[in-house]
Amino acid sequence: MGLNNRIHKFEKLNEPQQEILELLFKLVKYVENREQYSVGHSERVAYYAKKIGKRLNLPPEKLDKLELAGYLHDVGKISISDVILQKTAPLTFEERLIIQQHPLTSCEILSPFNFLRPIIPAVKYHHERWDGSGYPEGLKEKEIPLEARILGIVDSFEALSSKRPYRNKFTIGKIFEIFEKNSGILFDPEITEIFIDIMKSDTITLYF
Ligand SMILES: [Fe+2]
Repeated sequence: MGLNNRIHKFEKLNEPQQEILELLFKLVKYVENREQYSVGHSERVAYYAKKIGKRLNLPPEKLDKLELAGYLHDVGKISISDVILQKTAPLTFEERLIIQQHPLTSCEILSPFNFLRPIIPAVKYHHERWDGSGYPEGLKEKEIPLEARILGIVDSFEALSSKRPYRNKFTIGKIFEIFEKNSGILFDPEITEIFIDIMKSDTITLYF
């Protein structure tokens, strides 16, 4: 099911808001098509982020926001050139800086719309890491908004489970190993445990 078919799920939104979402989902789709290996990425992030949110007993409005943030977190990659987005060789320092701008660009795209402002913290901080080694601000532990910690974990799982131009995807066993090793280092330990548990009981066939 494509992104555009998912709009009906946010039925609390009015018609102009639905139209704005439709446009933004199209932009996300274009980004994913340009990156190629990431087709369906945002949809999978939204799906698993919401599952984690449910396990944390977040209220329905928060689950909706988490899901929307999952769909829209990488929309800012639209400003990154194909040369960088599709590069197979290691990125230069300057190219990495350009890539690291994308959470802020996503926020720039979303922030004019009042109804999307509540998802800005999740989007802005989805590349922050538990030990402060992430970007854009190097936030640590619970300074990172909960929704961003959730997205960061699912997003990292996605990266490891997809084939890149320069490497194959990791096996599921290897990915669990990486998560267990980095729980409390890169990732919130409590959410990591929940996520691994979900992935062990869920349809891993989505990926493998
Ligand atoms: Fe991202």
